[in-house]
Amino acid sequence: MQTITVDSKEQGAEEICNIVRGELEAGRLHVLGLATGSTMEPVYEKMVSSNLDFSDVTAFNLDEYIGIPADHENSYAYYMKKHLFSKKPFKQTYIENGMAEDLDAECVRYETLLKENPLDIQFLGIGENGHIAFNEPGTSPESVTHVVELTQSTIDVNSQYFSEDETMPTTALTMGISSIMQAKKLIVAAFGEKKRAALEKLYAGEISTEWPVTYLLDHPDVTVITDQKF
Ligand code: F6R
Repeated sequence: MQTITVDSKEQGAEEICNIVRGELEAGRLHVLGLATGSTMEPVYEKMVSSNLDFSDVTAFNLDEYIGIPADHENSYAYYMKKHLFSKKPFKQTYIENGMAEDLDAECVRYETLLKENPLDIQFLGIGENGHIAFNEPGTSPESVTHVVELTQSTIDVNSQYFSEDETMPTTALTMGISSIMQAKKLIVAAFGEKKRAALEKLYAGEISTEWPVTYLLDHPDVTVITDQKF
């Protein structure tokens, strides 16, 4: 595991773009796994204002809420369109369909697509409780794309994005730990004191189901980009 320590989210975004540029120029980036959330916003801003060309790159997103449509402003499909896809063309973009009638079939469909399009790079943020994608504490390392019940911690953190008269979904679809670990290269971004506890678990070097981020210790190519000093 490699760590790049930065002074700010913006500098972190710059570092991520540099890695992406290197992989694109080396001809190694055909499929890019994306994340949502506040951590990724400066990254997409930098990607948009750069001259990077993603028109030959297929994108996959990690997760999506169940029960809100793609045009709802809190859906992750909407987030991706707003921050990246409406401004940078990609060859193809995929995200789980949280409105699918048969959610189990949707998980199988998504996992099959991932198998057909192996991830070259996967971006990851970290939840305060150590989740990666929506793989909450207790998730099996063998998990593939699945339906998840969000923990109270995740609901508390993410409900800030929903207005008072809206109820935040408590279930989601997410790529599993095993789906994420298939990616050739993982780029983990975590900024601010609130992510410190999860990062401490990662740097402690012991894999624990209670802190899903620690599963990354088993991956051969992980770069952590953080403003926290250890
Ligand atoms: C989002 C995702 C989540 C976030 C994590 C951090 O697609 O998979 O795991 O990366 O919850 O969220 P922020 O960046 O908002 O702190």
